[in-house]
Amino acid sequence: MKAVVLSDWGGAENFAIQDIPQPAIKPDEVLVKVKAFGVNPADYKARTGTAPYSQNYSHPIVLGWDMAGEVVEVGRDITDFKLGDAVYGMVNFPNPGNAYAEYVAAPAANLALKPATLSFEEAAAAPLAVLTAWQSLTEHGHLEAGQKVLVQAASGGVGHLGVQLAKALGAYVIGTASGKNEAFVRSLGADEFVDYTQNSVEELVSDIDLVFDTAGIDTIFSSAKVLKPNGRLISIAYGAMDKVLAVRPDIHAERILVHTSGDDLRTINKFIDEGKLKITVSEVLPADQIADAHLKLESRRTTGKIVLTF
Ligand SMILES: NC(=O)c1ccc[n+]([C@@H]2O[C@H](COP(=O)([O-])OP(=O)(O)OC[C@H]3O[C@@H](n4cnc5c(N)ncnc54)[C@H](OP(=O)(O)O)[C@@H]3O)[C@@H](O)[C@H]2O)c1
Repeated sequence: MKAVVLSDWGGAENFAIQDIPQPAIKPDEVLVKVKAFGVNPADYKARTGTAPYSQNYSHPIVLGWDMAGEVVEVGRDITDFKLGDAVYGMVNFPNPGNAYAEYVAAPAANLALKPATLSFEEAAAAPLAVLTAWQSLTEHGHLEAGQKVLVQAASGGVGHLGVQLAKALGAYVIGTASGKNEAFVRSLGADEFVDYTQNSVEELVSDIDLVFDTAGIDTIFSSAKVLKPNGRLISIAYGAMDKVLAVRPDIHAERILVHTSGDDLRTINKFIDEGKLKITVSEVLPADQIADAHLKLESRRTTGKIVLTF
């Protein structure tokens, strides 16, 4: 099969398409013929070796966690998937997922059936980002209907799903991005929009119950300032919470790491089926343009998600 192989830590020029053996599956895995695979900032952090979880990886390596495709073989312990099922999921995160390939061996526990309303490209775009948004808002953010939520970087891969899920859970949602993304963020259901290039967020926003900060160092301190006493700050891109708590000791501040979960995807599927959650794919690229996809992501200016296909 064809796969995108990374020969060493470093730049995206270290990727090459190669023929490698199709993976063998374990009893609790299925073999998926990949129709599309997604990319995330975590992928370029794994490529450069700057992510803590990637430091034990050994090269050559096939990166990639997000994928959607068709089940073509099932392990002997599998009861919940059958040949021909259309599935999607985040495979083996934070260990190497090997999803930049024509076939991937995926633990069944990482997968869910693909909602019929999603294309394979949309489904491949979703898992890591949507699981992050869901777990941040619910498991860690304890979001309740009627609360006021700020989503920092509301136009990004994670943020655009966070806005929609927070709305679906009954929140009043304020999203931040630069002005070119205002129409997009409002189209996701945001009640208010703040252009961070024109305004200081803390001058316009206050009394927030929950901040979902997907931007990081550039936003984390404004995120802390706009919270109510006892408000919750859930960050996915900044980890020095001792510095944040030194400024706002009266809030709960936490950096989380997404975990893989087929069960969470099945819960999220209900929002997709009800039309409350749409996955925005800004670009579908051929697999041999993986370097371009990484460079675009590294610019931190992409809207929604990028996916690739063989
Ligand atoms: N801990 C975890 O489990 C976890 C999980 C997923 C992602 N992450 C991390 O979370 C971060 C976001 O991931 P992602 O996939 O959503 O990234 P992304 O899609 O690359 O985010 C790009 C978006 O961020 C917006 N943005 C950039 N700087 C901003 C700022 N200062 N204020 C407001 N918006 C800003 C950009 O909008 P403009 O172009 O309009 O500026 C752009 O639309 C990454 O660092 C990623 O590694 C962590």
